[in-house]
Amino acid sequence: MILRKKLIAGNWKMNKTTADAVTLVQELIAEIGRQTEVDVLVCPPFTALDAVGRALEGSTLKSGAQNMHPEASGAFTGEVSASMLRALFVTHVILGHSERRTLFGEQDAFINQKVIAAFKNQLRPILCVGETLAEREAGDTLKVVQTQLEAGLEGVSTEQAPSLIVAYEPVWAIGTGKVATSDQAQEVHAFIRGLLVKLFGEAIAQKIRILYGGSMKPSNAAELLAQKDIDGGLIGGASLEARSFVELVKAAAAAK
Ligand code: 13P
Repeated sequence: MILRKKLIAGNWKMNKTTADAVTLVQELIAEIGRQTEVDVLVCPPFTALDAVGRALEGSTLKSGAQNMHPEASGAFTGEVSASMLRALFVTHVILGHSERRTLFGEQDAFINQKVIAAFKNQLRPILCVGETLAEREAGDTLKVVQTQLEAGLEGVSTEQAPSLIVAYEPVWAIGTGKVATSDQAQEVHAFIRGLLVKLFGEAIAQKIRILYGGSMKPSNAAELLAQKDIDGGLIGGASLEARSFVELVKAAAAAK
């Protein structure tokens, strides 16, 4: 059996001033700043990335961004490029989050450009895919996930693919308290794994981590993380407070 190290990533969304971000990171470092059993990532807003990067120095925690623009530089008011993130010691970037898709109209082709730009700049993309409630109820879950995944990964090479991370985030479970059952989640994760096998071959697909996101919290994490193809979590609400985030990391360590 191939062991994938679990990854617990906190997506702080539009929360925390720089000062609050540093406080939270210091609390995390005090508890889990040296453990190596689980990969741990925090994704603060852009404004806090510099200070968080400094605060994380010397710990095993890493920082990620929540978005970026595919172009290297230029007249893109309000946007941030991959090289700007790299200069802040950012290692990962969340791309295609459902909030970007629905609230900011991001389409698969644009998300794909970002994925390509992330790889080009040695940033590890966390490509988010997931269906809405209406799509699930219409029986379209797998079709939607397939379209988002294949379009998002167009042009990604087999050399790049091992550092890809995919996050399955059913839109109806995000911030709603409604979590997918472990069977529902595992079904989609296994389907994603199968698509990755077709794209990159079995050996590489077995290395790619597929995170679950959507109301994951300490009370439901163990069951989700015990599933064969669930390799970690992309956590919103429960990542904003040290106690719950630390518990999630411990749940991932126990599930490995
Ligand atoms: P919640 O954990 O708040 O449901 O958010 C999940 C999410 O969108 C992570 O990217």
